[in-house]
Amino acid sequence: MKAWTYSEFGGPDNLQLTEQEIPQPGPGTVRIKVHAASVNPVDWKIMAGGLNEVMPVVFPSTVGWDVAGVVEAVGFGVDEFAVGDEILADNMQDFVQRGSMAQYAIVPVRLAAHKPKELSFVEAASLPLAGQTALQGVDHLGLSEGDTLLVHNASGGVGRLAVQYAVHRGLRVIGTASPSNHDALRALGAHPVAYGDGVVDAVRALAPEGVDGVYDAVGGVTEISGELMKSGAPIISIADPSVMSLGGAWLWVKPNSADTARLADLAARGIVKPQIDTVFPFADAPAAYRHNMDGHTRGKVVVDMTA
Ligand SMILES: NC(=O)c1ccc[n+]([C@@H]2O[C@H](COP(=O)([O-])OP(=O)(O)OC[C@H]3O[C@@H](n4cnc5c(N)ncnc54)[C@H](OP(=O)(O)O)[C@@H]3O)[C@@H](O)[C@H]2O)c1
Repeated sequence: MKAWTYSEFGGPDNLQLTEQEIPQPGPGTVRIKVHAASVNPVDWKIMAGGLNEVMPVVFPSTVGWDVAGVVEAVGFGVDEFAVGDEILADNMQDFVQRGSMAQYAIVPVRLAAHKPKELSFVEAASLPLAGQTALQGVDHLGLSEGDTLLVHNASGGVGRLAVQYAVHRGLRVIGTASPSNHDALRALGAHPVAYGDGVVDAVRALAPEGVDGVYDAVGGVTEISGELMKSGAPIISIADPSVMSLGGAWLWVKPNSADTARLADLAARGIVKPQIDTVFPFADAPAAYRHNMDGHTRGKVVVDMTA
């Protein structure tokens, strides 16, 4: 099978389209024919060697985690899925080697859920990692209906899903983004404010008493958050451990089949709509990474394996 692999740390220029053995599913896993795979910043951070302390990388390593495809073989003990089922998963495993940017992938059933028929493969592949990060982060904050949540980086892959889920939970959401993304955020139900100079005043104008919770999806904004939070308000960051200085939590997504199924159901009902920035063909997967690394994607970058 063809796979986008790298054999040393670096950027997307290191990715090579190589021939790999079609993998055999072990116990508790299925093999899928990959139809679509999405890009997450963690992919290129791992590719650059930036998460070396956290998770071992085995070369040659196929890049990518998020995936959607069709089950074509099941391993020992699998009764959750059958050949022909359409599934999606954040395929984060215990070490980095067998990724999603390949014609076939092995997926542990503990990470997978059925793809709703309402979603295309591209839409489904855009959801698992960012969507679970959104759901788990908003849930962790434990806010009540009517509370005001500040989302830093509301226009990225995670932020757009967090905004929609928070609005669904009855929260009033203020989201930071550059002005070119403000209309899109309004359409998702958020009150947009521009990040950078003036952000504190802009948020205060919308929440003079302070915000009830903060979801930091960008990092480097802990001081700003501290100025804007009500005393004792919960805060989480998915990008910056310094939130712990405010009593907050630095979260790492915990992918699992239950949250993937919950997310898929929210998407099937149109409550959390997939947000696609650009779809690249399989042959251009390195360009998909370069595009995300520019730092201004609006939602998710997806690679369509069938294109
Ligand atoms: N801990 C975890 O489990 C976990 C899980 C998922 C992601 N993450 C991390 O969370 C971060 C966000 O992930 P993502 O997938 O949402 O990234 P992304 O989609 O690549 O984010 C791109 C967005 O960032 C916005 N942005 C850039 N600088 C900003 C700033 N200073 N303030 C507000 N928005 C800004 C850009 O908006 P403009 O174009 O308007 O500038 C763009 O829309 C990444 O660092 C990622 O590695 C962590």
